[in-house]
Amino acid sequence: MTRKPFIAGNWKMNTSLEEAPALAGAMVEKVGSVEGVDLAVCPPFPYLASVGKALAGSKIALGAQDIFYENNGAYTGEISAAMLKDVGCAYVICGHSERRHVIGETDEMINRKVLKCVGDGLKPILCVGELLTERQADETIEVVSRQIHLGLEGVSSADLTDVTIAYEPVWAIGTGVTATPDQAQEVHAMIRRLLGEIYDDATARNVRIQYGGSVKPDNAGELLTQPDIDGALIGGASLKADDFAKIISAANNANNANKR
Ligand code: PGA
Repeated sequence: MTRKPFIAGNWKMNTSLEEAPALAGAMVEKVGSVEGVDLAVCPPFPYLASVGKALAGSKIALGAQDIFYENNGAYTGEISAAMLKDVGCAYVICGHSERRHVIGETDEMINRKVLKCVGDGLKPILCVGELLTERQADETIEVVSRQIHLGLEGVSSADLTDVTIAYEPVWAIGTGVTATPDQAQEVHAMIRRLLGEIYDDATARNVRIQYGGSVKPDNAGELLTQPDIDGALIGGASLKADDFAKIISAANNANNANKR
């Protein structure tokens, strides 16, 4: 079974009322009918609806940057699965490193978010990745394994088909420093082995594992041709339609090269 590459743009806390649909419109023009790669963009919450309109009829799906795991009620500031579905979201980023390390989300909260997504028909992108100090202390495998185990607790192998994993070494996010293709591939292969142990090999072979962290047009090709890298979660470069389109074309080429 081949894994179709999946490229998602995480706009983080960027763009404005005017810029967000304009950026989405520019992306639709450039890559809105691409067939060989699954695509999504994740704008800030206030712009989900207008970006959704700009994406309508294209192949680019809408995603959210976060979710809350309760249905409704007294949770000031939070956003429910039903609200995200109302505005047309298909994907949700869960446990992004900025939410783990800046906002203080725990593995348990992230797991509840992942379970909420799969239970309510949304597709989670579960982010994992080690800090620089953890890499330097040789703890990468331990940290990423813990995040995968705890993040996926209670997720059935049937539900895992809707889950994407994004490996994003924290030291590579927004820093301009990318993991080398070998460094990334090593962790991706470890994640797939681990999924094989938690579930089974056939299930693990079908899970898409994105790489994230300073992916740019000039390094996307060599990352995306690695055997266990099935796409990318793009921050900075997803704010420029041209760069995003170039990365998507690298993913398309990697796929056409029939690496798997
Ligand atoms: P970056 O962000 O591409 O700007 O490094 C990636 C991410 O945080 O998802």
